[in-house]
Amino acid sequence: MKSQPERILVTAALPYANGLLHLGHLAGAYLPADMYVRYQRSKKRDVLFLCGSDEHGVAITVTAEKEKITPQAVVDRYHELNKATFEKFGMSFDNYSRTSLPLHHKTAQEFFAEFHRSGVLKEKEEQQLYCEKDRMFLADRYVEGTCPNCKHTEARGDQCENCGTWLNQAELIDPKCKLCGTTPVVRTTSHWYFPLGDFQKRLQEYIRERSERDGWKDNVLRYCESWFKDGLQDRAVTRDLSWGVPVPVQGYESKVLYVWFDAVLGYISSAKEWASRISQPDRWKDYWLGENTKYVAFIGKDNVVFHCIVFPAMLMAWNDAGREQYVLPENVPANEFLNFEGQKFSKSRGWGIDVQNFLNHFSADSLRYTLAINLPESRDSDFYLKDFQARTNNELADIVGNFVNRTLAFTEKNFKASVPVAGSLDARDKEMAMLIAGMPSKVGAFYEHYKFREAVIESMNLARAANKYFNDSEPWKTSKTNPERCATTLNMCLQVVRSLAILLEPVVPAMAQKVWSTLDLEGTPCSAGWESAAQQALQPGHALKKAEILVTKIEDEQIDGIIKALNEPAAAEPPKPPAEVKPLITIDDFKKVELKLARVVSAELVPKSNKLLKIQVEIGAERRQIVAGIAQHYKPEELVGRMIVVVANLQPAKLMGQESQGMLLAASDSTGKLAILTVNAELESGSGIK
Ligand code: 2FM
Ligand code: ZN
Repeated sequence: MKSQPERILVTAALPYANGLLHLGHLAGAYLPADMYVRYQRSKKRDVLFLCGSDEHGVAITVTAEKEKITPQAVVDRYHELNKATFEKFGMSFDNYSRTSLPLHHKTAQEFFAEFHRSGVLKEKEEQQLYCEKDRMFLADRYVEGTCPNCKHTEARGDQCENCGTWLNQAELIDPKCKLCGTTPVVRTTSHWYFPLGDFQKRLQEYIRERSERDGWKDNVLRYCESWFKDGLQDRAVTRDLSWGVPVPVQGYESKVLYVWFDAVLGYISSAKEWASRISQPDRWKDYWLGENTKYVAFIGKDNVVFHCIVFPAMLMAWNDAGREQYVLPENVPANEFLNFEGQKFSKSRGWGIDVQNFLNHFSADSLRYTLAINLPESRDSDFYLKDFQARTNNELADIVGNFVNRTLAFTEKNFKASVPVAGSLDARDKEMAMLIAGMPSKVGAFYEHYKFREAVIESMNLARAANKYFNDSEPWKTSKTNPERCATTLNMCLQVVRSLAILLEPVVPAMAQKVWSTLDLEGTPCSAGWESAAQQALQPGHALKKAEILVTKIEDEQIDGIIKALNEPAAAEPPKPPAEVKPLITIDDFKKVELKLARVVSAELVPKSNKLLKIQVEIGAERRQIVAGIAQHYKPEELVGRMIVVVANLQPAKLMGQESQGMLLAASDSTGKLAILTVNAELESGSGIK
């Protein structure tokens, strides 16, 4: 590859569609990836940014079994929720795909079939854990036990999430069936194996060469080293499961591909989906098969082995066959973990916050900024809500917001809201001009080297220096004593405001755009181009718009409320009075009520309400919105995919400004517990109920 590639392909780990994204995910892979991409786009590079939902794997079938819905309903729910969270967070993916798409199945099957045909894969009979009670092989997460490496007691059959070790289930100490808790027995089954060991030498050479060229992070190299030290083993790439990509080999009809075999190929199918979406079906090849593509794969540390070892080995195996030549990752910048309020995020302990809901109350930019400053780039780091408040108020608002607002307000008052003409520059002005001239290359170098925290800190230093420049120049005095000096100061301040918008766009894109619009400039900070942050490009006489508040400060109560809710168990509701007895009715009275089966398509909290959920349902071919007071009993995402019972001929009503076109049925007992009525059979929505 030439020193400057023609194209940059960026992928961010495909999150499992089996739960909600938490702040740790955002800090691990997604925010750094998005900042990198936004920076590269601003550099006018040809970037393709891909992600999507990882929709296979046992975790999903376990959830489906628990909730008595299909795995497809589970992934439909979380795919939509996570996609929406990403959008709210300002992720700028070119495509967000999903691995349950036929296009992806086909891609994964092609790879498997090619490896099978060319003799790369080996078939082996092996001893696997089998649950006699549930009558199934316990693949991957169907079995739990103690991790042989770190002794974590909830290690899964394929991976320990605590230390990231990729396991063979036979290595688990004291294994137990995840479904029924019994100790499994050992039985024989056959599977196809990918011979990772055969690739060890080439993988070591590949990592050495790329890390010398592009500077891989120490933490990533250390993980790889430990894998190589132990010696790479053959790995089974098929499973005795029914949910996943079917194995395209005779005799394996009842088995599927191992989730990690198909997941990494999801990056390729996401590119294919993007290409057909823009009606240029071959465009994906420019990136994946281009000789001059730089491919950067952003992940969290628990994914290192799959992206630095397994995926490159798979691509090498494909390329060996002499067909298309796929590009291998040039770098795999993996972050460590982020903790929340001093503890690990935990779905089972409910430790964390609902990011989507959080973003209903706070700006994505405040969150992006705080996460960026605390990124776990070389070691685990922490997110504290009080720090979030302090960073928003004392840095984003008081440093950037304040500088932009005082500059615009002063210009509005003293120069009729237009850019004043600069006179001759004094030493202080020249120093400021020099500072902005050097910013794009200085901050840019941090982005090029995946040092996102430092990129943000350095950009903020410009805002700090600008406030000092404003103070030291005392324009409120020179406006009276030396108008030309004052005009020169404000001209310079406005130039810095423009430069800040460009330099901060990768981390706080919405705020940067707001500044851009206030400056009444064409396009976006990104379209102006990174290098133009060095210039004094605002023309004298250019008219400005009215300054708006850029950053809303966060009040103590807002944050204290969340912290309190985190630490307190939910308060018990007061007992309800006994149900009243109603008079008898005739069958005809009952028939007036039209009860129908409805499928929940999506659900969300009604803004400013902690009781009401707004639920979109499908009743046969019809779509309706139902508002129900069940928010304290169900999280919105728990409802998606469920078949519920609704009164379809109830007069519409408005609840907190939201139209409700029907009512769902629910039972509640004297303790205040509530359960909605659901139907578990595979019936069509819209079916009548008698
Ligand atoms: O750890 C995870 O969330 C995985 N779903 C990441 C997959 S990345 C890629 F291989 F798809
Ligand atoms: Zn069992």
